[in-house]
Amino acid sequence: MNRDVNRAVRVAVVGAGEWGKNHVRTFAHLRGATLASVCDLDSAKLEAVRSDYPGVAATARYDDVLRDSSIEGVVIASFASKHFEQARLALAAKKHVLVEKPMTLAPEEAEELVHVADQTGCCLMVGHLLLYHPAVAKMKALVANQEIGDLFYLYSQRLNLGRVRKDENALWSFGPHDVAVAVYLFGDEPEVVTAKGEAFLQQGVVDVVFVTLHFPRRKLAHIHLSWLDPHKTRRTTIVGSKKMVVFDDMEPTDKVRIYDKGVDIKPQAVAYEDYLHVRFGDVLIPHIGSIEPLRLECQHFLDCIRTGARPMSDGRQGLQVIRILAAAQRSLDLDGAPVPVKG
Ligand SMILES: NC(=O)c1ccc[n+]([C@@H]2O[C@H](COP(=O)([O-])OP(=O)(O)OC[C@H]3O[C@@H](n4cnc5c(N)ncnc54)[C@H](O)[C@@H]3O)[C@@H](O)[C@H]2O)c1
Repeated sequence: MNRDVNRAVRVAVVGAGEWGKNHVRTFAHLRGATLASVCDLDSAKLEAVRSDYPGVAATARYDDVLRDSSIEGVVIASFASKHFEQARLALAAKKHVLVEKPMTLAPEEAEELVHVADQTGCCLMVGHLLLYHPAVAKMKALVANQEIGDLFYLYSQRLNLGRVRKDENALWSFGPHDVAVAVYLFGDEPEVVTAKGEAFLQQGVVDVVFVTLHFPRRKLAHIHLSWLDPHKTRRTTIVGSKKMVVFDDMEPTDKVRIYDKGVDIKPQAVAYEDYLHVRFGDVLIPHIGSIEPLRLECQHFLDCIRTGARPMSDGRQGLQVIRILAAAQRSLDLDGAPVPVKG
């Protein structure tokens, strides 16, 4: 493998749709990258690429990407149902892969991708964008340095009235982000998952889902996902023994608020009413910078290709998220019954 850390890495983007075009734009402008090729089945998408990026090859044949030995990295942002096969072929062709979420639609497929990446020595990274969000990095630091105390529970909401997908339901479309964040913040894997949801718009495709991840030591993460909601909401709240934090991604600048609020337990209190002392302190809005998370994610992919480092959202982390989603799907199918993650 080429370990020259100063070289420009040649990248192809597969799928230039609503999200993939952001990868195209980012890699076209990122220092240290050369956007070599864009692959899409839709001729209108290819025309747009030809017009916006004249030096970039635009093709409908995935084989063109696989056969081009100058391309080191392949970014897969096509339909979820294509991720497994396209990622497997790229890894087998000895290319580094950044595959969008959901990594695959079944744990067995994710396991195979991890296996093929291990065998070929290629980097396998999953587009769990929020792990590269400065606000999530801030929350992780607040948890890790014990500033919020013991992390008791978190809840997140990923809602809007928007794109209704057919390939994947709201759990598989939105869930990877929040599951990845919950696992990252707790630094642990849930033991059991419960999920309730309903398909209102298309038979068999759940539009709204309420997922609960049950972590060891009675820690909880509750996740509400929907594309059938009046409000666009992207919010995560974490509650610790000392402080509480809200990350609201819909806020243009002040995305993180740290609340010095909590309930202190005073075992020495004489009167019972003094035993639990509610504390209302200040609210702090930390400066977290304004770098686009996708840019950080793409930069991380390039750095991992150049140095051989393991990505933060690597294949194993992706597999863990897929196992949790599969347990949640099983719970959904069982009308909310608890399902162990390690089955
Ligand atoms: N990380 C994030 O925050 C984020 C946000 C939105 C979407 N996504 C993910 O990105 C992926 C794409 O989502 P989207 O909203 O852009 O969907 P989209 O339907 O708008 O775009 C998908 C594109 O892939 C192309 N495509 C499909 N099959 C192909 C194939 N075999 N070869 C080449 N091109 C093919 C389609 O023609 C289309 O242009 C999905 O997996 C989605 O979950 C991630």
